[in-house]
Amino acid sequence: MSVMKAVILAAGAGTRMKSDKPKVIHKILDRTMLDYAIEAAYEAGAQEVCVIVGHGRDEVMETIKHPVSYAIQHEQLGTGHAVMQAKEFIQGEGNILVLFGDTPLITGESLSKLKTVHEQYNHGVTVLTTHVTDPTGYGRIIRDEQGQFLKSVEHKDATQDELKVNEINSGMYMFKAEALSKALGQLTNHNAQGEYYLPDTLSIIQKEGELVDAMAIENVTEILGVNNKVQLFEATTIMRNRINHRLMEAGVTMIDANQVYIGKDVVVEADAILYPGTTIEGKSIIKSGAHIGANSKIVNSIIESNVTVENSTILESKVEEGSTVGPYAYIRPNSSIGRNVKVGDFVEIKNSTIGDGTKISHLTYVGDADVGREVNFGCGTVTVNYDGVKKHRTIIKDHAFIGCNTNLVSPVTVEENAYTAAGSTITKDVPQDALGIARSRQENKINWVKKKRH
Ligand code: UD1
Ligand code: CA
Repeated sequence: MSVMKAVILAAGAGTRMKSDKPKVIHKILDRTMLDYAIEAAYEAGAQEVCVIVGHGRDEVMETIKHPVSYAIQHEQLGTGHAVMQAKEFIQGEGNILVLFGDTPLITGESLSKLKTVHEQYNHGVTVLTTHVTDPTGYGRIIRDEQGQFLKSVEHKDATQDELKVNEINSGMYMFKAEALSKALGQLTNHNAQGEYYLPDTLSIIQKEGELVDAMAIENVTEILGVNNKVQLFEATTIMRNRINHRLMEAGVTMIDANQVYIGKDVVVEADAILYPGTTIEGKSIIKSGAHIGANSKIVNSIIESNVTVENSTILESKVEEGSTVGPYAYIRPNSSIGRNVKVGDFVEIKNSTIGDGTKISHLTYVGDADVGREVNFGCGTVTVNYDGVKKHRTIIKDHAFIGCNTNLVSPVTVEENAYTAAGSTITKDVPQDALGIARSRQENKINWVKKKRH
């Protein structure tokens, strides 16, 4: 297999986004536009990826989730100039795939086809194109009467006749590395925008005697470039439909697929049911028979079979079979909820393990705790896990019964079958089978109210 490396352009400001954030790090569902482009490059078989950064480069570099190298473009003098900054990276043999950080809908599959065509016909460069009904703003692909490729002309430089052409330059190319290096040396900025245009390398390489052609793809949506917030929304809708349709075809039920937002790496099994307002991100797995939503957010979590999650948020945690979460629960990172557990309304759980069959029905905070099986939490229990300096753990063993409004001042252990009395602030361990009471006795002052009134 021949070497393929990818260069991804991400140095522009994206002024049309009207945002303080660099364009390419705006998100579509759970990841940035730039991450989609990087993933497509790797999916197509790129061995290495170099990202050209410039405007807001620290912010851009911070968000990238994949192994890449960087080249800096200090001044944004055009797409050709951007690629020049990767001079060392593109040197050598093999192919160079060039992508933009603002065309997030391209698939690895189409890029693989581009590579196949490029190699099969031994092109110096193959540009990916498509036919659109409204080509406004895009570069146009100009061909001669025989349909042979002539050049790619930018909208702002095009003649009236050229503007009528509806085959557009996607901004994505497969180059022979050597041809690209050579062509970059010959680029000029004598055009309407005074920029070094990457599309000009096409005719330069052709003049050098290499074969140059376009590969048109039918799926126009893969080429959508995002330049403003309306296009960001359009791209999000297309991506969402792509992911949701794939999942529904595999047997997932969505009550309203227009209101379900799922990241591309999320696994949802057949016969899971997703209600409106559900967002599932990252490396989450939702098993068969789970009911998720309405209005729930799940990030990097595993939800086992027959779990119900209603109006709740679950982050970096696991919920085992048959448990129910919510409505209005918040499960924070590093929590593990066992089987047939009830996590009810206004319950927050953080960095804790909860054993099978335990009930935490309402208004409770469980943080930094290890809770056994079949434990019952009364309403309003609080693990007091933070002393202002350090976090400590609370241990509650099997079959314990925590009375309503108990404070468990950690580090503290409630042993098996132990009870705590309602309203207790427990600061000492409660032995097995004991009742821990930590509150002052009630005193009734007879006729106190009447005396006060007199
Ligand atoms: C570009 C193409 C056009 C094509 C269209 C497809 C050029 C000159 N034009 O136009 O033919 O139809 O994309 O979407 O290539 N960038 C840099 N450094 C720069 C300039 C741009 O890194 O100096 C990056 C931007 O961050 C962006 C990408 O290159 O990710 C494209 O730049 P943009 O200005 O959006 O190009 P278009 O006008 O859309
Ligand atoms: Ca663009």
